[in-house]
Amino acid sequence: MTHQDLKKADDGRVLIFDTTLRDGEQSPGATMSHREKLEIASMLDEMGVDIIEAGFPIASEGDFAAVSEIARNTKNATICGLARANLKDIDRCWEAVKHANSPRIHTFIGTSPLHRAIPNLTQDEMAERIHETVTHARNLCENVQWSPMDATRTEWDFLKRTVEIAIRAGATTINIPDTVGYTAPAESAELIRRLIAEIEGAEDVIFATHCHNDLGMATANSLAAVDGGARQIECTINGLGERAGNTALEEVVMALRVRNDIMPYSTGVDTTKIMAISRRVATVSGFPVQFNKAIVGKNAFAHESGIHQDGMLKNAETFEIMRPADVGLAGTSLPLGKHSGRAALREKLRTLGFDVADNQLNDIFVRFKELADRKKEVFDEDIEALVQAQGAGEETIQLQHLRVVCGTEGPQTADMTLLIDGEQAHTETTGDGPVDAAFNALKALVSHDAKLQLYQVSAVTEGTDAQATVTVRLEEDGRIVTGQSADTDTVVASVRAYVSALNRLLVKRGRTGPGNDTKVISYRDVS
Ligand code: KIV
Ligand code: ZN
Repeated sequence: MTHQDLKKADDGRVLIFDTTLRDGEQSPGATMSHREKLEIASMLDEMGVDIIEAGFPIASEGDFAAVSEIARNTKNATICGLARANLKDIDRCWEAVKHANSPRIHTFIGTSPLHRAIPNLTQDEMAERIHETVTHARNLCENVQWSPMDATRTEWDFLKRTVEIAIRAGATTINIPDTVGYTAPAESAELIRRLIAEIEGAEDVIFATHCHNDLGMATANSLAAVDGGARQIECTINGLGERAGNTALEEVVMALRVRNDIMPYSTGVDTTKIMAISRRVATVSGFPVQFNKAIVGKNAFAHESGIHQDGMLKNAETFEIMRPADVGLAGTSLPLGKHSGRAALREKLRTLGFDVADNQLNDIFVRFKELADRKKEVFDEDIEALVQAQGAGEETIQLQHLRVVCGTEGPQTADMTLLIDGEQAHTETTGDGPVDAAFNALKALVSHDAKLQLYQVSAVTEGTDAQATVTVRLEEDGRIVTGQSADTDTVVASVRAYVSALNRLLVKRGRTGPGNDTKVISYRDVS
């Protein structure tokens, strides 16, 4: 398999290794359900990502089940699982990825002085551990990636020694992580260049770069590493990831495409699929994309200043270095209205990148008609919000009725009926504003101690009849869940988002099979 990777690199390809489902999902609150992970993996495969890091199989039953199912279902991409530097982790990882057409084991250990101190290993002991674990992984799988975690803060001599050991033990990809986002572009390029120049056998492996964005340099550092000889970039959709996140896939892929004159490398990614997956990841992770985010932000292609608009009208190239269509943003399109039928809706969904099953279409159609009754024109963003707010259809708690009374004279009141496991539950509550009153009703009907960590509202389109997208993040005993919903009524959207988060919390509290995403261990506890 790696020979194929080397062949691709010889042909001028930079391999795209997506870790949205592993490093991205590790971000507190970004937990995705089993079904959502499968869906994202399938979108990544369709868009042409070379390697999908699907999870950390030993972390939980849920992670194991997701990685195994993704491995079974994926057609083209290599499926990779993460394992710490011990035989048990590696065996569990292999059990999950072995079903893939092209499986990969990714094993790692923290090599910097700070990370060596945690398992309390001497350099010699760590060297021995690397030899033993990479050899074991290679006996199971012909495609093995090895990473010295915190490589950019590891002493040069020890880093070189460990990489040499990993290559001799059979690693086929050597990944150099900038775990804490500490490096800078010139240093990132030089580190890879020096490793390739000085390490025996370097020409037989792929060098990868894995950057975090703590200083806002992840994309620049990844591209600099490519300049230094790296031929695999590790990244996530929307830059999702712990703290300030990882390198954003859409940024490196579009940079390589737009500036191919100075970075003459290609990727296998179909860039027209970028917007659809970006929106889907934002929804399922509950991490909205900042408005001015490069490539996928709401304003990335919006030109508001007079001078810019004038220039754009005369020649789009005056202010655009790429076309919206290049990243899958539909150009001006006709909005749908209340007379539009099912076929028009299906066609619209298709152009927006959503391939929905018949039963999903029926559900979206019903909600589209309700929306079209309330709103004169239904724009692309409204349709996307409808799809993204779509529940699994099997939620324990469902909102059946809500009436709020608000205005200058308080207290505001909420009259709410929920269906809980099919049984009706009703209450009337007051609060400091309509949202507070409605959330108090939810707390009265569904007993929970979860704390509201985030409540965020944004308008989907312009105008006072715009839908509001609401994100709610709850935390209970260390479990963090996010719910999202959209509606022209902000209070209804808020309650639905809260209900969606509560349903996810119930899953996390109780289930033990696939879908229980509670991590039982952290990848940083190296045993
Ligand atoms: O950032 C990091 O060091 C990682 C490793 C597990 C590769 O994510
Ligand atoms: Zn990482």
